[in-house]
Amino acid sequence: MLKLGVNIDHVATLRQARYRGREDGEPDPVAAALAAESAGAHGITAHLREDRRHILDGDVRRLREQIRTRLNFEMAITPEIVAFALSLRPEIVCLVPEHRQEVTTEGGLDVAGNLAGVREVCRQMADAGIEVSLFLDPDPDQVAAAARSGAGFIELHTGAYAERFHQKRERQLELDRLVRAARQAHELGLRVNAGHGLNLANVPLLHVVPHLEELNIGHTLISRALFVGLAEAVREMLAVMADYPG
Ligand code: PXP
Repeated sequence: MLKLGVNIDHVATLRQARYRGREDGEPDPVAAALAAESAGAHGITAHLREDRRHILDGDVRRLREQIRTRLNFEMAITPEIVAFALSLRPEIVCLVPEHRQEVTTEGGLDVAGNLAGVREVCRQMADAGIEVSLFLDPDPDQVAAAARSGAGFIELHTGAYAERFHQKRERQLELDRLVRAARQAHELGLRVNAGHGLNLANVPLLHVVPHLEELNIGHTLISRALFVGLAEAVREMLAVMADYPG
């Protein structure tokens, strides 16, 4: 079964728009996580960015205490955030690149160009019993490097596919890249997740990508929640994921 990880960063983004730097304002990302779980989400994802632009340290600690599914802690490889993750002990961390000027995570991690650094973080996480996923563009060199890093998972970056969704030819090329990367990862013994820019319209076609275990989805769920509520938004997404061939 294809699982749904709900990214609740955007709930915190909305809170920060009014209550900058405060954890006690509304809407509460932890309450959103609990609502998503009650509606059937299989895990919760949160990204503690270095600039703390949305999720704050205390949010992550409350998530750790209160959620009943799996915590996927998205993080950049910096000494401060690595130390935070090791003390937090989420079930899994997803290593992402982070640039201060970007609106969201805009590209995959360059594992091939920083194999020693990624390996070291994978080793530290493994010692703490934390699984590691690497957020990667569907690029064969990056997938090959991931297989040598010690990570158990990759998360394929679906942003390029999502952006080209309305251009049929380009969309097909992006889907082909995702299919090839998922096959290669599976053959190399990696487990495969995917995420970024996914929504009710583009998830069904993604079903052609083999070996997927989990989709991490944020923006569209929080956007839909304005109109139908978060629980219904999660249920709608689970419904379109249900016939993934697996
Ligand atoms: N996966 C990763 C690694 C991400 O950085 C993000 C964006 O925060 C997502 C998934 C979710 O993307 P979106 O908010 O576009 O659904």
